[in-house]
Amino acid sequence: MKGIVLAGGSGSRLFPLTLATSKQLLPVYNKPMLYYPLSTLMLAGIRDILVISTPSASPVMRDLLGDGAPLGLNLSHAVQPEPRGIPEAFLIGDRHIGTDDAALVLGDNLFHGAGFGQLLRRARAQLDGAVLFGYPVADPERYGVGETDAAGRLVSIEEKPLRPRSDKAITGLYFYGNDVLDLVRDLAPSPRGELEITDVNRAYLRQGRVRLADLGPGFTWFDCGTHDSLLAAGHYVQTVEKYEGERVACLEEIALRMGFIDAAACYRLGEGMRQSTYGRHLTEIAYAYS
Ligand code: G1P
Repeated sequence: MKGIVLAGGSGSRLFPLTLATSKQLLPVYNKPMLYYPLSTLMLAGIRDILVISTPSASPVMRDLLGDGAPLGLNLSHAVQPEPRGIPEAFLIGDRHIGTDDAALVLGDNLFHGAGFGQLLRRARAQLDGAVLFGYPVADPERYGVGETDAAGRLVSIEEKPLRPRSDKAITGLYFYGNDVLDLVRDLAPSPRGELEITDVNRAYLRQGRVRLADLGPGFTWFDCGTHDSLLAAGHYVQTVEKYEGERVACLEEIALRMGFIDAAACYRLGEGMRQSTYGRHLTEIAYAYS
């Protein structure tokens, strides 16, 4: 399975924060926002990842992540010249995906919870069509919303409905079979002139080939797309890291635990950042692992 992080968009709901920089480079507590969605793909066991960003942010993304080799990844970079909708990621990334299945994560989505990696790897193994990830929210009208029947099967998906049929947001993480590439090529823009990910998901729903994985109790999800959710996400990460002693989206630690890099490599990465608590954490876990 190949991965894509879509970090495009103008971030207009975060103005003036994003007037001169990309949303996905903003800090969420102690690391750039992009680390969080990248960590999700890594936890799913995906190492071949394309980062799609805006023309102005792309050189910075390259400086930040390079080719991913120090993390045991194979990262490449591409540009989305204008925000023309989430499914455009598959048009930009079709050569990257080739004949593989695809996982797409939005660059502002933060997922966290015990057993998340296991859940993702199980979803990958059972993929036949599409797997979506649902999370209950207080304001479903801001998101794609999924309605399920008594057996937990998806029966409808609507994008930002005025009257949501459930409180289940369809989060910005999508697993698709390779046929997503054909499906997106035939997709027509919505009345607002963009390709809509909800239309892709509805096509799978019509074929009866979509499964909803529930991120229920014990999981946390933020989209970091507004001033309040950005701050809330930062506070959440601070609380987990300071008071629960667990790191969220520490890419080098995940690479170590996933077996992408060895303890010596993790130690070297920590040494390069030893002035920060983040860097010191890396040298400590590398030491514990060796
Ligand atoms: C997009 C999708 C929406 C999804 C959300 C998750 O909305 O269109 O279906 O629930 O991401 O973050 P956007 O944040 O681009 O408005």
